Amino acid sequence: MSDSDDYPSAQRRRTEGSGVRRSHGGGSSGHNNTFQTKLFIDGQFVDSHSGKTFVVMNPATGEELARVSEGDKADVDVAVRAARRCFETTWKFTDGSRRRDLMLKLADLIERNKEELATIESLDNGKPYNESLNVDLALTVKCFRYYAGWADKIQGKVNPVDGSFFSFSKHEPLGVVGQIIPWNFPLLMAAWKLGPALATGCTVVLKPAEQTPLSALRLAELIHEAGYPNGCVNIIPGFGPTAGGAISSHMDVDKVAFTGSTEVGKIVMEAAAKSNLKKVTLELGGKSPLIICEDADLDAAVEAAQVGIFFNQGQVCTASSRIYVHERIYDAFVDAFVRASKRRTQGNPFRDVSMGPQVSQEQQDTIMRYIKAGKSEGAELALGGRKGQSNGYFVEPTIFTNVSDDMTIAREEIFGPVSCVLKFRTLEEAIKRGNRSNYGLAAGIFTRDLGTAFKYANEIKAGTVWVNTYNSFDAAQPFGGFKMSGIGRELGEYALSNYTEVKCVMIKLPEAPIKN
Ligand code: NAI
Ligand code: MG
Repeated sequence: MSDSDDYPSAQRRRTEGSGVRRSHGGGSSGHNNTFQTKLFIDGQFVDSHSGKTFVVMNPATGEELARVSEGDKADVDVAVRAARRCFETTWKFTDGSRRRDLMLKLADLIERNKEELATIESLDNGKPYNESLNVDLALTVKCFRYYAGWADKIQGKVNPVDGSFFSFSKHEPLGVVGQIIPWNFPLLMAAWKLGPALATGCTVVLKPAEQTPLSALRLAELIHEAGYPNGCVNIIPGFGPTAGGAISSHMDVDKVAFTGSTEVGKIVMEAAAKSNLKKVTLELGGKSPLIICEDADLDAAVEAAQVGIFFNQGQVCTASSRIYVHERIYDAFVDAFVRASKRRTQGNPFRDVSMGPQVSQEQQDTIMRYIKAGKSEGAELALGGRKGQSNGYFVEPTIFTNVSDDMTIAREEIFGPVSCVLKFRTLEEAIKRGNRSNYGLAAGIFTRDLGTAFKYANEIKAGTVWVNTYNSFDAAQPFGGFKMSGIGRELGEYALSNYTEVKCVMIKLPEAPIKN
């Protein structure tokens, strides 16, 4: 681990009167490091009503990165009013082609500022800069371009009704939507949420996670620069029970979209039910099985298993946290998996490393508790298992073998770089055990046999099934969970229906004379 002097600064213009400047005395780059730190409401950066701020940490060093305005109910109220006014007076009358052009402009601006945004993301979240740039930023730009393509193609149907009527249905924007997002892919999660909402003509109040609010605030500047009307998108950093709770229980928010823990998903849904029955979509946790069959390409499977559980420090809702390996190749797989994982480098996200720190001390502590539980319940520690030796929130890539289904580490979402390797004999058994979970977000299989792959894909209960690949995402693919992994689908054409109401119009026509 190197010292914090190596952390680059975001090279960017500074918004007058707001933004935090942080210099890195003796640092390698010597540029100013400024972040936007206020709430973005009605097209302006403003202090929170309470005047409160909260600290944002650099997880790689455990040092303070910035202080950000802390929004709560009073700020959410103002933001919702701005979003409502924008929706009713401007945005719902804005042509689809204009919404398309604005989103394409936004995508261009993000692309033009991608190095800076990737820098902010890595400082704030701790993920390796190369991943921020080549995964998060690349997918963010693609997501906005994909939804720009839909903005002028939101259309209804003519309904073939009996009698002398003309009946059609149209897809109208839902209105004001609240969006609450997590810290694991801060900018990309904002894109997944904003893309379909803005394409369909909704206005938005978005709350980034309290751990990682910075890239969403930079995005707010770009949204403004792209030319979105004031109030169309409002970004309110703040905490879950206060700012998040105010969004999910607001009487004038028409829908809430949430990504995060299953526990909080239930709270959000309950708040929605108890307030105005706003629409709810949820993307929640997972405990996704990855099955390695006897005929699998072993090298490819080892690679995918690493991407599955170590990518983004294991902080991925689809993480392949249960790896079922056929008994005949179990030893060979474990051997190769451990050897490959030993080569993973960890440290300063701005160096050439494959892993950074966990996002927070809280997450680091949780993961360490799970590792302890794994050891005490009798799993065998084949690799890692320790914290890193610095002030950052590092956890070594960890592999447990001889794991059984009933162990805590095989049942609960760990959300860290902790892999459980289990043994199976038959495909039927692997499917049955894979399905024995309250979650159903994703699943994977490595096999060269098409019949095996299809049988697994048909019978596993998961929103996404990867065959001979893992953690591969595309804006055109629907994403979401079975069972307690969530409600609804994001991305693809499917996400559009989360943001539209279907209105049916029936028109009585003069009776047609029937001649025959
Ligand atoms: P969380 O579910 O508490 O936080 C996610 C978002 O929800 C944040 O923006 C947070 O401020 C907000 N939130 C929290 N309480 C809220 C409330 N009462 N009302 C409205 N919004 C609220 O997740 P947390 O605490 O950061 O992580 C805990 C665990 O959740 C992780 O270890 C992981 O297992 C899971 N998780 C899953 C994610 C996913 O992508 N599915 C992402 C983040 C966490
Ligand atoms: Mg929480």
